[in-house]
Amino acid sequence: NNARMILNKDYIIGEVDKRIYGSFIEHLGRAVYGGIYEPDHPTADKYGFRQDVAELVRELQVPIVRYPGGNFVSGYNWEDGVGPVANRPRRTELAWTTVETNHVGTDEFCTWAREVGAEVMMAVNLGTRGADAARNLVEYCNHPQGTYWSDLRKAHGYSQPHNIKTWCLGNEMDGSWQIGSKTAEEYGRLACETAKVMKWVDPSIELVACGSSGSGMPTFPQWEATVLEHTYEHVDYISLHTYYGNRDNDTANFLARSMDMDAFIKSVISTCDYVKAKKRSKKNINLSFDEWNVWFHSNDADKKLERWSVAPHQLEDEYNFEDALMVGSMLITLLKNADRVKLACLAQLVNVIAPIMTENNGAAWKQTIYYPFMHTSVFARGTVLNATVKAPLHDTKEFTDVPYIDAAAVISQDEKELTILAVNKNLEESINLEIELNGLGNFRVLEHIVMDHPDLKAVNTRQKPFNVAPAPGGNAAMEDGKVKAGLNRQSWNVIRLE
Ligand code: AHR
Repeated sequence: NNARMILNKDYIIGEVDKRIYGSFIEHLGRAVYGGIYEPDHPTADKYGFRQDVAELVRELQVPIVRYPGGNFVSGYNWEDGVGPVANRPRRTELAWTTVETNHVGTDEFCTWAREVGAEVMMAVNLGTRGADAARNLVEYCNHPQGTYWSDLRKAHGYSQPHNIKTWCLGNEMDGSWQIGSKTAEEYGRLACETAKVMKWVDPSIELVACGSSGSGMPTFPQWEATVLEHTYEHVDYISLHTYYGNRDNDTANFLARSMDMDAFIKSVISTCDYVKAKKRSKKNINLSFDEWNVWFHSNDADKKLERWSVAPHQLEDEYNFEDALMVGSMLITLLKNADRVKLACLAQLVNVIAPIMTENNGAAWKQTIYYPFMHTSVFARGTVLNATVKAPLHDTKEFTDVPYIDAAAVISQDEKELTILAVNKNLEESINLEIELNGLGNFRVLEHIVMDHPDLKAVNTRQKPFNVAPAPGGNAAMEDGKVKAGLNRQSWNVIRLE
């Protein structure tokens, strides 16, 4: 059971855009209320933000957070969420059939993002609204002063513009569940006209057009082609969304789904480049994988929720150890496509399908998936090397020739640190990985972090928050100029060299 990874200093995939370690906070369930914001919580700051949660977010070094949805944004009047809180309306929220109090809105969220060291990726409502509300929001957020909307922001106490650089033109507009869903033609035209006026207000912003809400949609990938034919010269990115689950309890097949994610990315790149050729354009459209995660544990419980409650326990997946392996594999897949994937958001960040869980008025803890996300975000910055990985293969129910090892290598900007991330998907046996460092210089092993557990279904809970956690116990070592590491069966590995 041996595998090889061949690295060469001159063979690279591309720079890691740190924004691939983005995440997402939607007005949904307890992400905002009871998640990042809980004014009565003992750790709340003067704005009402939980500092226990903020600290866990900071540890993840999330550079950008998408907001305020998601499906929520397609029915959202952003004006409801600014100005004196006492005057803000309570609204029926049709995406998730709850009541939105609007106690948190654009200004508060920007304050929170600054506290945790993240930029905001703002989505505009192209479900019930359009170009006018979108350009006003850009003016409210980014225009310095001296106009109606920028002066209103100042009057609300925010003298400095929020300077939001990255904007999403709606959310999942192809989905029948979306408020105000559209055909590709309808959406393409609306996105084009909205993009124009948003960039006229602030030419420095970047825009993400909605791709299909999943590769399984019947209109995929024609949707992407049509939307880009309308918007190509006005947008910078196209979005991808995907969620995986192990509904039939077939772990090997579940973990193999990173291959599906990779194929999805490759298909979207091809579609972008097809439109580029058709338009004789010199510009590339890059990819914003702005929703990705494991999501299925909470599906049944969510069907039983009562309508019109405030901040219910919604989409609260409790993640187990195999989910962490899958999230690790998905992160490696993003890295392997770093030349075109420039933004990505782990959906989501707190309580709602999230790495961080909280109790109302109580504790906050790290779910299993927190760790691979943190390791990758913190250590895998720099340049992704074009690694050749030769690993034993296996077949699963839906996939053939699945490598047991998923791995990526990232060298830091100053070339002083090399990080290898690897998942061993073999559920029975460990695999010896040998890494060749052609031309990369002399490295020594700094640490080999391992996350493994005998029970694939083990979880972290309020009572046992560190049941599944990484430890620095791996055996990676330099031998004859190569790295040799034993990768335990069913394990996540971070080998750090310096
Ligand atoms: O992240 C949860 C939901 O998943 C989002 O609101 C929506 O965009 C997607 O369907």
